[in-house]
Amino acid sequence: MQDSQAKLSYISPKAAVKESPIHGRGLFAVEVIEEGEIVCVKGGAIFNRERLRELSARLGPAEIQVAPDLFVGPLTEEEREGSMIFSNHSCEPNLGVRGQIVFVSLRRIEAGEELTHDWAMTDDDDYEMECRCGAAGCRKVITGQDWRRPELQQKYNGYISWYLAEKIQKEAGPRGD
Ligand SMILES: C[S@@+](CC[C@H](N)C(=O)[O-])C[C@H]1O[C@@H](n2cnc3c(N)ncnc32)[C@H](O)[C@@H]1O
Ligand SMILES: [Zn+2]
Repeated sequence: MQDSQAKLSYISPKAAVKESPIHGRGLFAVEVIEEGEIVCVKGGAIFNRERLRELSARLGPAEIQVAPDLFVGPLTEEEREGSMIFSNHSCEPNLGVRGQIVFVSLRRIEAGEELTHDWAMTDDDDYEMECRCGAAGCRKVITGQDWRRPELQQKYNGYISWYLAEKIQKEAGPRGD
């Protein structure tokens, strides 16, 4: 493999990138994935928000946030493809996050299903996006502040990025009991 196509991220052999009805390309199960399997691990370089602004202008959305002011993703067009995990957002996802970069299956997934996570699990940002996930309970508009929603914190307990889980705990304050 040429360095310019280095696989900075890991994608399970049970998954493949294909055209998605949600948006562009997505990640799909090519065989059954049992609950709790590692489906992909996000890789790339580590940079702060200031650098992210410059990078996203050139590369588009290709990073995930891993700490209050740290992101992982590609630095160059050459690195972009190998750093992408292609997980589109869904309001009824079948992947969750362990730590900050390991994506695991939340349930048994059948071959052919698109593999998605809810960006409320990973993002702390100021965007608003019209959602085209097609789930029955779609929120229609998702935002970079959805991690604050108590019902989502509860739904994704144990599958929210570490830095957000810390923030949720801090903002909840000391427990009275
Ligand atoms: C990191 S990319 C995901 C991969 C993307 N489908 C591609 O082909 O490059 C993130 C972009 O995918 C699109 N996207 C992902 N999930 C979406 C959803 N549920 N509704 C609408 N757009 C979505 C948005 O344009 C978003 O900026
Ligand atoms: Zn949705």
